[in-house]
Amino acid sequence: MIRYTTFRNARIRYSDEGKGRAIVLLHGFPENLHIWDEFAKTLSKSFRVITIDLPGLGESECIGYVHTMDLMAKCVNSIMHELNLRRYVIVGHSMGGYVGLAFAELFPENLRGLCLFHSTAFPDSDEKKKDRDRASEAAKKHTAQFLKTFAANLFADPDDPNVLKLQALTADTQPRGIVAALQGMKMRPSREIVLKFAQYPVLFILGKKDKIIDWEKALPQTEIPPHGEVLLLEDAAHMGFYESPKKTLRAIRKFTYKCFREKAQ
Ligand code: MLT
Repeated sequence: MIRYTTFRNARIRYSDEGKGRAIVLLHGFPENLHIWDEFAKTLSKSFRVITIDLPGLGESECIGYVHTMDLMAKCVNSIMHELNLRRYVIVGHSMGGYVGLAFAELFPENLRGLCLFHSTAFPDSDEKKKDRDRASEAAKKHTAQFLKTFAANLFADPDDPNVLKLQALTADTQPRGIVAALQGMKMRPSREIVLKFAQYPVLFILGKKDKIIDWEKALPQTEIPPHGEVLLLEDAAHMGFYESPKKTLRAIRKFTYKCFREKAQ
């Protein structure tokens, strides 16, 4: 069921489906909650599934000119309070993973597991920070073209039919929300320390063809958490839920049961 709430005077859209143990799916940049539609449909047969349009994206309004990962995590936390949820697993795709890590730092009490889906605890390199500024300019001036090109770059195969699906899904994204997210990602700190002290299981999903998250650079951080595991996708780039849906869905289901210390059904 789609719902709306208010966070810092901004209207925020989220969805809440299914019953049982809760799993929170956080989309990446510049996506929205519909990126999870297929996963949410299947997962909500076994779990309660919450998806959220992070501030400035999808139908959620902007809060300021920079949406830090901490601000987005606070927005997620306010929805967790509104729903009175006390135990949940967070799965964050890319930027959603940065938000998941910020959440884990700020509000670790109720977290039972964290999945970094094509994401990383490392901050942006100096080069990447410059790219964020270039991307912000491009997004302001040529929003539609920026969104199209960005989507195509996320897949291993540029002719993957899901490129068009993603382009359609993000076509209405507002430039102000795009820039606020880019600047927020640029400012994020290293969160390796969060991994080091994670009391809960952490699952990393990495794609060998990913142009955004270099799997070889990210691999060593999978050794940091006391209870870490990794799924390495041979043929996927940055969009494992489209490029390798069966494997990634199975891994997330199994991981969620493990986080709640239950046997997979
Ligand atoms: C994402 O998919 O969320 C972004 O590409 C992540 C990033 O740019 O660091």
